[in-house]
Amino acid sequence: MNSTGLKEQSVLDRVLVLEMVRVTESAAIAASDLIGRGDEKAADAAAVEAMRRAFDTLYMDGTVVIGEGERDEAPMLYIGEKVGGAPGKGPKIDIALDPLEGTTITAKAGPNALAVLAAAEEGCLLNAPDVYMDKIAVGPGYPADVISLDKSVTENVEAVAAAKGVESKDIIVCVLDRPRHADLIAELRSLGCGVVLIGDGDVAGVIATTDQDTTIDMYMGQGGAPEGVLAAAALRCVGGQFNGRLVFRNDDERARAAKWGIEDLDRVYKLEDLAKGDCIFAATGVTEGSLLSGVKRLRRPNGDRVMTTESVVMRASSGTVRWIKGEHRL
Ligand code: FBP
Repeated sequence: MNSTGLKEQSVLDRVLVLEMVRVTESAAIAASDLIGRGDEKAADAAAVEAMRRAFDTLYMDGTVVIGEGERDEAPMLYIGEKVGGAPGKGPKIDIALDPLEGTTITAKAGPNALAVLAAAEEGCLLNAPDVYMDKIAVGPGYPADVISLDKSVTENVEAVAAAKGVESKDIIVCVLDRPRHADLIAELRSLGCGVVLIGDGDVAGVIATTDQDTTIDMYMGQGGAPEGVLAAAALRCVGGQFNGRLVFRNDDERARAAKWGIEDLDRVYKLEDLAKGDCIFAATGVTEGSLLSGVKRLRRPNGDRVMTTESVVMRASSGTVRWIKGEHRL
């Protein structure tokens, strides 16, 4: 409590947790113009530009720690870029973002494309290089360390099944549909597991483990490391377990890791190693999905045109999850 009798606010309170939704809404609305238009780059660029502009309306001194790439690769929202409307004055916030998680999905009008971001106090989000990450995740309610990247696929499935009181064949696992996952999928099928193959979008894939309606118990496989940090931030808020290990395919990727101060290349990261302290996760649906509805354009009988959005914003310190439906006049 302070002298006003009000509870002390943390840095994240001061940037108004709910305001983060405006940022993901802006990106989702901009990208939605390009759903099904076959142009991934244009969809991504529209989301990036809208997200960049929306950040400037927030009172914060933000720094992008996970973004669209390094400065020489991305014109906007590059790693290290300052965002927010109060540089040098507002609270210092680190931001991990993906203005359009699912560029191909959007171009093809597939399911589960999202505009996402995570925000935390300075130094609390891992500066993950843009390499692959081996990932394994389960939702809330399991005993600690039920999953581990140091165990085999079979051992992990058996541990989750035992904790859930079912057989291995009853476990449903979400996996990105990629040739590199052929052995993983074969092992899961040999156990009789249900395998939900997704074309893209493993942030939504990991979060799906936290929602019983999806029936997905586990997420396994290799996806982007930046997406791993975003998914971990979400799991920190709603519960669940995650292990991630960076995957380096060449010296260039190892050099990227060194640049971000990563020395132990074989380290297994758990939730708190990826997103520690208080953090916020916000997402808005771009296309229709299991987590969120996509942006919809409606025309009223009187000719008014509106867009509707669905978003979620979660906070680790309180565990609060808010679902927000937006109606935006055109
Ligand atoms: P983009 O939105 O950048 O296209 O990423 C989509 C995605 O499916 C991620 O969710 C996932 O982590 C990554 O791509 C997997 O990479 P790859 O397509 O190289 O297998």
